[in-house]
Amino acid sequence: MTTVGVLLVATGKYYSHFFENLYKSSEKFFLPNTQKTYYVFTDAINQLTAVPENVIIVYQEWEPFPGPTLHRYHYFDSISEILKKHDYLFYTDVDMLFVDTVSSSYLMSKAFVAVVHPGFYKTFNHRGTPETNPNSKAFIDPSVDFEYVAGGFQGGKTKYFLMAIHTMKLSIDIDFDNGIVPVWHDESMWNKFVVLNKSNVHFCQPDMCFPQNTNINSYLSDIRAPKLIALDKNHTEVRKK
Ligand code: GAL
Repeated sequence: MTTVGVLLVATGKYYSHFFENLYKSSEKFFLPNTQKTYYVFTDAINQLTAVPENVIIVYQEWEPFPGPTLHRYHYFDSISEILKKHDYLFYTDVDMLFVDTVSSSYLMSKAFVAVVHPGFYKTFNHRGTPETNPNSKAFIDPSVDFEYVAGGFQGGKTKYFLMAIHTMKLSIDIDFDNGIVPVWHDESMWNKFVVLNKSNVHFCQPDMCFPQNTNINSYLSDIRAPKLIALDKNHTEVRKK
């Protein structure tokens, strides 16, 4: 059976607010017929009761925003030796919910999978909000046409996704040493990576990162019904320790 590592960052309030519901929804809908192991990066060690068998807790200190998102690739890279054993790795924001079946054929056709950002899908501004500082490793030249992707869900075949993780981690470090934090943090770096590797990327519609409480009919006529929903939340509140 195909084995999948699901990567989740749930430091601070994210564990108590979101983990359980995301986990349950994933067990119900995400890649049935695969064997999933969840790697949960969290500092909520004293809140852990009855952790399911397929959940591995990795202690991760809370950091103020944007640390937990900017450093996600650092977190994953730190356990790459453990992750190696899986066939595929997928990251999802923990403040999401699976609401419909996501089958393997949908995600496993290429080395990587990315999700077109719901805010820019098929709009005049499909290039979204890439990094525009030429000194950043995330810089995408304005002449390059591409579809901006969301950071909220991503993944790929383990061997390749681990390479991507490592590369993006180094790029974030190099930027940091040069006094640069890309405009949308890890998402900017992921967009750059996807642009450079686009023939190896399967692009999902925003049904894999669909904003909660958005009327699908008023959104776009060709979009498929959501499979993974990005939950509404008070960002300032949940980002506090
Ligand atoms: C927002 C989203 C951010 C980031 C941004 C990019 O809608 O909440 O996480 O993706 O778009 O412009």
